[in-house]
Amino acid sequence: MCGIVGYIGLPEKTAEHDALAVLMEGLRRLEYRGYDSAGVATLSEGAVQSRKKSGKLVNLEEEIAQQPMRSASIGIGHTRWATHGGPTDQNAHPHLGDEGRLAVIHNGIIENFAELKERLLRDGHSFDSETDTEVAAKLLGTMLPEAGGDLTEAMRLASNELEGAFTLLAVHSDHPDQVVASRRNSPLVVGLGEGENFLGSDVSGFIDFTREAVELEQDQVVTITAADVRIIGFDGTPAQGRRFRVDWDAAAAEKGGFDTFMEKEIHEQPKAVEDTLLGRTDAQGRLVLDELRISPAELNEVSKIIVLACGTAAYAGTVAKYAIEHWCRIPVEVELAHEFRYRDPIIDDTTLIVSISQSGETMDTLMAVRYAKEQGARTLSICNTNGSTIPRESDAVLYLHAGPEIAVASTKAFLAMIAASYLLGLYLAQLRGMKFQGEIEDILADLHKIPAKIQEILDASDQIKDLARQMKDEPSVLFLGRHVGYPVAMEGALKLKELAYIHAEGFAAGELKHGPIALIEEGQPVFVVVPSPRGRDSLHSKVVSNIQEVRARGARTISVAESDDEAVSSYSESVFRVPETQPLLMPLLTTVPLQIFACALASEKGYDVDQPRNLAKSVTVE
Ligand code: F6R
Repeated sequence: MCGIVGYIGLPEKTAEHDALAVLMEGLRRLEYRGYDSAGVATLSEGAVQSRKKSGKLVNLEEEIAQQPMRSASIGIGHTRWATHGGPTDQNAHPHLGDEGRLAVIHNGIIENFAELKERLLRDGHSFDSETDTEVAAKLLGTMLPEAGGDLTEAMRLASNELEGAFTLLAVHSDHPDQVVASRRNSPLVVGLGEGENFLGSDVSGFIDFTREAVELEQDQVVTITAADVRIIGFDGTPAQGRRFRVDWDAAAAEKGGFDTFMEKEIHEQPKAVEDTLLGRTDAQGRLVLDELRISPAELNEVSKIIVLACGTAAYAGTVAKYAIEHWCRIPVEVELAHEFRYRDPIIDDTTLIVSISQSGETMDTLMAVRYAKEQGARTLSICNTNGSTIPRESDAVLYLHAGPEIAVASTKAFLAMIAASYLLGLYLAQLRGMKFQGEIEDILADLHKIPAKIQEILDASDQIKDLARQMKDEPSVLFLGRHVGYPVAMEGALKLKELAYIHAEGFAAGELKHGPIALIEEGQPVFVVVPSPRGRDSLHSKVVSNIQEVRARGARTISVAESDDEAVSSYSESVFRVPETQPLLMPLLTTVPLQIFACALASEKGYDVDQPRNLAKSVTVE
């Protein structure tokens, strides 16, 4: 996600710490968060100076070399991971308000930006970008008169009008002695210096300058001057932050204190799912997928959906199939993108192609989407990377908003892809009248409870890690699942193969007796993804029978089962518990122990889980 830095120092410190140099150093430290454009604004001689550029920091540096900035003691800097609007120069931050006297940067997603923009347009404001940030900048500018010109109060008033997740930082040419910031559901930390203070989306933004920091709570506004830090709540009451000392080195700081990006991303999953769900409903609780760009009439005509993806994304596609067919009664095929276009598939203009890709650059998926378009199909991309090729070339897009995924093997994007697929399924069901509004709202309400449930699994992961340590020398591990547990079993096996280089296979549990059961011998570890006992017909009891079948042949069984599922206890050597949810939503929970297991086992073997051998994050060859 976006990286944010803010700096203010006493003017006499400028020779030692020029604001631009401090901001650029902070942005370099935040590069690991992933970004597609960058920008800075400083205050000098009573005016805002701002430079921004799409692409990497080097582009911004070139821009500044061509249009040098005067030295300054206050400023803000930003690396943008595009959400609203593609990664262009215009959409890069900062955005200006109050007739160019105010510069604002932002991390997060402002849910009610469309209605605020409409209001501001009616009041005569114009916009240079497609971003929600520019809406916040203009809104903040309009609040200044009401706040008696006080930037902190204006920020407080504006923040109370914003919905969603945001960290905002602002500087104003009439207030050269302060940087003001506000935070709701997005990260922000203050760095404390001597005669200077800092802001950062995390401590990496200022770790080269100070290790003394203050953590803010939700819904707070902070004003930093060179000598002081003042915090108030969105209701105006003064507040205290929690002071702490950063004892990580710079490399650990990038990873949020985790040893690896993979562990960090596994732990970011509650937020990734939450952000995917954010801002997708209107005030009446109806789903609105603004970015879809395919008209409701066209979506109503869809007679068949084909999901195209590779690897982990294809397993998310299988979950999508189960959900969309069940909720919408539209036939859904899932196909590996590289197989699809070489077999003369049957497509017409009532076929909806749904591609799923974290990177948006996977060549196999891209070629399959292009082929389907040539055949007249409508194309919709579920993607994490704003502005990447697949969404650009598709008729419609549903972005994940899961934030950049740095570890090569996918974790948080997988859960976000599943959450986005559910949103698509529910949207189609709403559009085609396949479900009552109340039913859709119930499912959405359960979806919104998922992030806290993922957190529960993460908080209880010691048992999984212990087992991983014990199993580090196993030569082969099998995974079984049925219904939506089947793609989860496949994903569990893939994670183990790619991270720990162990032979692993995932099977549909019903397929066992048709061959794979021959693999079972004494001591063979078998993970079983157990469906909910409250789920469909006899699915649960069928899986319990499958567990017994493999145990009877000597297997060592490890179940992933709901917290109240007592039936599996007596048939399993170990049980990883997950909280209860609707049967179709279970993959968002049952996947997590398998990711933790694979990551822990690979780390135990001393492997680099962020960069497994032979693999690339973005597979741009066919
Ligand atoms: C596995 C993994 C890969 C990707 C696949 C598609 O952990 O990451 O299997 O899922 O290469 O990549 P995207 O989603 O970028 O199209």
